[in-house]
Order: sequence, then structure tokens, then C-alpha cells
Amino acid sequence: MSVAETIETPRLNLRPHTDGDADDIYAYASDPEWGKFLPVPEPYLQEHAVEHVEKILSRDREQHPTRAVCIGPQVVGDVNMRFFADHRIAEIGYGLSRSYWGRGIMVEAVNAIISSAFDCYTQLVRVRARANAENLGSRRVMEKLGMSLEGQLRQDSFECGELHDEVVYGLLRNEWHGI
Ligand SMILES: CC(C)(COP(=O)(O)OP(=O)(O)OC[C@H]1O[C@@H](n2cnc3c(N)ncnc32)[C@H](O)[C@@H]1OP(=O)(O)O)[C@@H](O)C(=O)NCCC(=O)NCCS
Repeated sequence: MSVAETIETPRLNLRPHTDGDADDIYAYASDPEWGKFLPVPEPYLQEHAVEHVEKILSRDREQHPTRAVCIGPQVVGDVNMRFFADHRIAEIGYGLSRSYWGRGIMVEAVNAIISSAFDCYTQLVRVRARANAENLGSRRVMEKLGMSLEGQLRQDSFECGELHDEVVYGLLRNEWHGI
């Protein structure tokens, strides 16, 4: 069984991307503050948004599904999930337009996606995520989802010409209770 392609939450529609989403993505991803902790080009051009959508559409969705986070018709972010070890391990990543930060949107989105993955893949045991140690907003999202800080990899990521510590968070199935 595959995870449902489209997931509805009280405020959001989480759905596969389409070619037409590049404009909305460009609108938020060209904000340098949005990309501060992400390995994205700077400056972020329209063509980067087009390439991003093409890359998502070219992937095997069973192994590496990414969903657009939509409020009404507008794409305001995305959540990416990648499976390893025959769907026993999942890794998540996410980003949201700065206009919507601080309203619990990403916790709502990731919560629904983790929940759906645990329901669909009975063999799924572990969900993990990484972030730049200084990305306090992202760390807070993981903590609010009940993920545990498992380690800090010192000077392990290279962003904006500098090395940074990276934190690893994890959650096991028997710890999952959702929000
Ligand atoms: C990280 C990100 C996804 C958070 O999305 P969001 O919808 O604002 O997250 P939520 O509102 O669900 O939760 C954010 C929590 O972090 C807190 N937070 C945000 N920025 C913070 C900061 N600089 N310091 C401390 N806490 C912070 C918020 O107060 C909130 O916690 P609270 O509800 O207890 O008050 C969003 O800021 C983003 O897309 N950033 C750019 C891309 C990015 O960094 N992605 C993650 C890569 S690992």
C-alpha cells in the first residue's frame, strides 16, 4: 500500500506538486531569509524553482515523496519524506514561506505526513530529521512533534561558505503520539 498522495488537515492541503507550482515556490524561496539554513542557490532565481519542481516530479514517489503545502490554491511550502531500508526508516525535510511562520503550520503538516506514513508502512520504525544547529525554528518543529535530540555533528555541514554544527533528531514508532 502507498501513502495517500493527498492529505487534508484542518488548514492545509498536502498534495503532489505540478509544473504550475514553480511561481508560488519562487515567490517564497527567493527570500534570502527563507534559504538561510538551506542548501539553495543565492540568489534564488525563477529557473531554480522550475528545476526544483522538475526534480521532485522525476523521483520515485514510493521512495521519496514530496508534497506541496497548500493554503487554498497557493503553495506556501513543502514537506519531503525519503524512505530507507525498505520503508523501515524515513527522513523528513520541510520549508514554509516566511509569511506563514509562527502559526503552527509546519507542525500541522509534518504531523499529518508522519502519521500517514506510520499508518501505511507497518514496518516503519524510525523517523529522523537533521537541521543546522542554529536553526531554532526547525528544531522547535521537531521537538513539538515529540522527536528527541539524538546527537550534534560538529562542523558537519557547509552552508554560505562556513562549516556549521548539525543536529539529528529521531522518533521511534512506539514514541509516536502525534500532536
Ligand atoms: C522552520 C520552519 C519550517 C518552521 O515553520 P513554522 O510553521 O513557522 O513552524 P511552527 O509555527 O509549526 O513552529 C515553530 C516553532 O518554533 C518557534 N520558533 C521559530 N523561530 C524560532 C527561533 N528563532 N527561536 C526559537 N523558537 C523559534 C516558534 O515560536 C514555534 O514554537 P511555539 O509554537 O512553541 O511558539 C520555517 O521557519 C521555515 O520554513 N524556515 C525556512 C526553511 C527551513 O529552515 N527549513 C528547515 C530546514 S531543516
